[in-house]
Amino acid sequence: MKKNISILESVDLEMDWERVIPTEVEEVLSIADRRLQDYWDQWHKRPIEQYVACDFRDVWRALVSVAEQKLSVGNTFCEWGSGFGVVTALASQLGWEAVGIEAEAFLVEQSREFLKQTNLKGEIVYGNFLPSGADSLAKKQANHASLFHQVPSAYETLDLQCDDFSLVFAYPWPGEHHYLQEVFRVYAGDQALLLMFLGPYEIELFRKQQS
Ligand SMILES: C[S@@+](CC[C@H](N)C(=O)[O-])C[C@H]1O[C@@H](n2cnc3c(N)ncnc32)[C@H](O)[C@@H]1O
Repeated sequence: MKKNISILESVDLEMDWERVIPTEVEEVLSIADRRLQDYWDQWHKRPIEQYVACDFRDVWRALVSVAEQKLSVGNTFCEWGSGFGVVTALASQLGWEAVGIEAEAFLVEQSREFLKQTNLKGEIVYGNFLPSGADSLAKKQANHASLFHQVPSAYETLDLQCDDFSLVFAYPWPGEHHYLQEVFRVYAGDQALLLMFLGPYEIELFRKQQS
């Protein structure tokens, strides 16, 4: 008898890297750009080593492509490590029920303020995006950035589980994308999508499937 095994399949996302960003999105991003600039100007006062922003405009283009190509089986979105909450806000503006999970209390506070300022609905939860037990999927002696946070898993606060989300976005630290893919393969729902920003012009999409 064939045993069902989950796999992550790469999805060919056709996206237009030159797509013009609509005015209402630029308005949100100009607020984000200002808040980030203020943060970088004062970085020495509150250094957060793990915070680096993705290219919000390209991630918006990717989200629009996912929506237009009707690739997502549902309407729930989660940003793993939501930083300033900008991608969560963009997903919410595009109609997803969007949640961001972030382990740094300062970034949680900043992103909630940002959502309020932009009148967007996304929710930001303080906690760990790794489901309980997911650390055991890391190779021995792996020092992935996402394993450093000694904060409880956010899913209990959310009253939702990892497999309740149809689309997850992550911008992993170099070297940990395979680990996050493995966490997603094990804990996400069947047919859920994982969108990853891996660097400039490097955005990848995966779907969890049964082999
Ligand atoms: C590379 S930054 C990306 C921020 C944002 N997603 C973006 O693309 O602009 C990674 C973020 O994930 C957060 N983070 C890392 N590991 C985490 C964990 N296990 N649980 C929650 N947040 C985490 C960091 O604090 C940081 O804000």
